[in-house]
Amino acid sequence: MSSTSPAERSLVLIKPDAVRRGLVGEILSRFERKGLRVEAMETRTLDGDFADQHYAEHVDKPFYPPLKAFMTSGPLVALVLSGDQVIEVVRGMIGSTDGRKAAAGTIRGDLSLSNRENLVHASDSTDSAKREIGLWFPELG
Ligand code: PPS
Repeated sequence: MSSTSPAERSLVLIKPDAVRRGLVGEILSRFERKGLRVEAMETRTLDGDFADQHYAEHVDKPFYPPLKAFMTSGPLVALVLSGDQVIEVVRGMIGSTDGRKAAAGTIRGDLSLSNRENLVHASDSTDSAKREIGLWFPELG
């Protein structure tokens, strides 16, 4: 029996604003330089049904219609990252939701001025990572 458990995983989306602004390389590079491993990576353009499934917990919130319009507005890059405590590590690296308030040094704090066009989504718990990876990359499940 192996004594090492598999590394934790997180579903990360480099959102359509980042693709439009040419920031995919910058964002990916931050994750790679941190030491996180790219387990899967794919460019996709979401349809409305898939957006509803991904954001199932938010579909009834007032901010959801503009969020859905934004997330279906163009290609994004979906990643599965792995590494020690990757969920917490990536959440720290991306910063708080609103780019105007996110700390300097974080991806949103350095590169976003919006709470909608905020460049990156990342799983916020082990349960959400499991659900999101199952939705986006069922072959990894
Ligand atoms: S909540 O209610 O606290 O769970 O919401 P939060 O974690 O702050 O945000 C969840 C996702 O909704 C996006 N968001 C918005 N989109 C459009 N307009 C407004 N006003 C808005 N406020 C929040 C936010 O970017 C989060 O997207 P993800 O992809 O999960 O990071």
